Amino acid sequence: MLTEHPVPTGPTHLQDRVPRVVGSGLTVPLVTGQRVPYANLDHAASTPCLVEVGQAVERLLPWYSSVHRGTGFTSRVATLTYERARDAVRRFVGAAPGATALFTRNTTDALNLLGRALPPHTTVIRFAADHHAALLAWRGSRVCRLGVPASPGQAVGLLAGALADAPRGPKLVVITGASNVTGELWPVAALAEAAAAHGARTVLDAAQSAAHGPLDIAAWGVDWVALSGHKMYAPFGAGALVGASDWLAGAEPYLAGGGASARVAEAEGRETVLWSGLPHRHEAGSPNVVGAYAMAVAGEALSATGWDVITAHERGLAARLRDGLARIPGVCPLGMWETGSPAVGVVSFGVSHCGGEPADQRLVATALSAEHGIGIRDGAFCAHQAVRALLCRVHRHQPGRALRASIGLGTTAEHVDRLLSALTELVAHGPRWTYRNTPDGWCPVPDPRPLPDFLEHRTLAAERARPEQKGCTP
Ligand code: ALA
Repeated sequence: MLTEHPVPTGPTHLQDRVPRVVGSGLTVPLVTGQRVPYANLDHAASTPCLVEVGQAVERLLPWYSSVHRGTGFTSRVATLTYERARDAVRRFVGAAPGATALFTRNTTDALNLLGRALPPHTTVIRFAADHHAALLAWRGSRVCRLGVPASPGQAVGLLAGALADAPRGPKLVVITGASNVTGELWPVAALAEAAAAHGARTVLDAAQSAAHGPLDIAAWGVDWVALSGHKMYAPFGAGALVGASDWLAGAEPYLAGGGASARVAEAEGRETVLWSGLPHRHEAGSPNVVGAYAMAVAGEALSATGWDVITAHERGLAARLRDGLARIPGVCPLGMWETGSPAVGVVSFGVSHCGGEPADQRLVATALSAEHGIGIRDGAFCAHQAVRALLCRVHRHQPGRALRASIGLGTTAEHVDRLLSALTELVAHGPRWTYRNTPDGWCPVPDPRPLPDFLEHRTLAAERARPEQKGCTP
């Protein structure tokens, strides 16, 4: 089936310029005892590290030291590295040179920071299709909830209607760059224009779009953008919030502590604090210079590669994936909008049956890993409302759960083809290994897969009893 339908993964002269990622040759164990190259099709959750980013971090580490807190030479180097990283991230997102750039832990942290800086009586307008970070960061504020639109044009229309009906006072519109469920690109500039026409501010959740296409918040008229290093090939624990200073400057610090406080005294049994100005006001505690630098290097590396190279690589593979999935009986891709709407390489789908039985999506994902060395995500991808709404449009599937394959710079055509062959086999015959359904999900029985050396050669099965192994399944 697969060789009948070769889809180019981009012109060769562009392919040669695709940046390399750390771990591209990694092999993983199968339950059968074989090892195979890992097919990482979970870039939407976390991207691997760019080789260039890893090398830059290694160069920084000997100089690693405190930021804003030391007169030692290495402290000066670390401080300068951190402050230059702000400039680089500002450039990467296309912000005005004077924009505030704050380093956070990730997009969720950045959106929560903004959520804590809203002026009193702000109305937040957001869509049900958003990721939980963009959905939940506004608790405590007045929220206007819009449904999952049937087209980009309807999204703009729904927003314009909501803005016209919104109460007086400050308004914030939450815009998603690319859906973490379907990969579809939202009409960012048109939504920002509709917001501006009603005097509303906008924040762009660029977690899923930042590594896949250019950001230009100044040109789009977007007020803030939130993004994550771990989704842009810089997995060292940093994210960023970049944009307008006014709401951030007027807000209580996001965290109270050193760095955020310019002067602290005690009078009449309580502390009096003079809070720092921006950006330090919202960056209490020792800053993550390694993460910030990694994000800056990743942004520069992606921009220097050229978006034409990145999109040619990803679109070719995404087309191969989408076309292949559409040919497997009982596999149904989820989409908000018309087939073929512009999208990044994120594809969610339901599998209706597996070896003649109604399919359990988690079992399919577990078998793909255990028997084929393929990593995808199952569940509702921290976007429960979106997945529920989209599954309702395609009947016959396990309620509330889907599978998601996502593409990035580390993906090859072989990874995509392996997924398509494995799914075809699973749908037709079911898993070849035995699995037990436990409170933690499906487990292969037996599961002899050894963990890597640095985890002392134990097996995954031996470690499964640890409660923290359960992680976040939804
Ligand atoms: N937000 C990440 C995802 O979509 C974790 O998988």
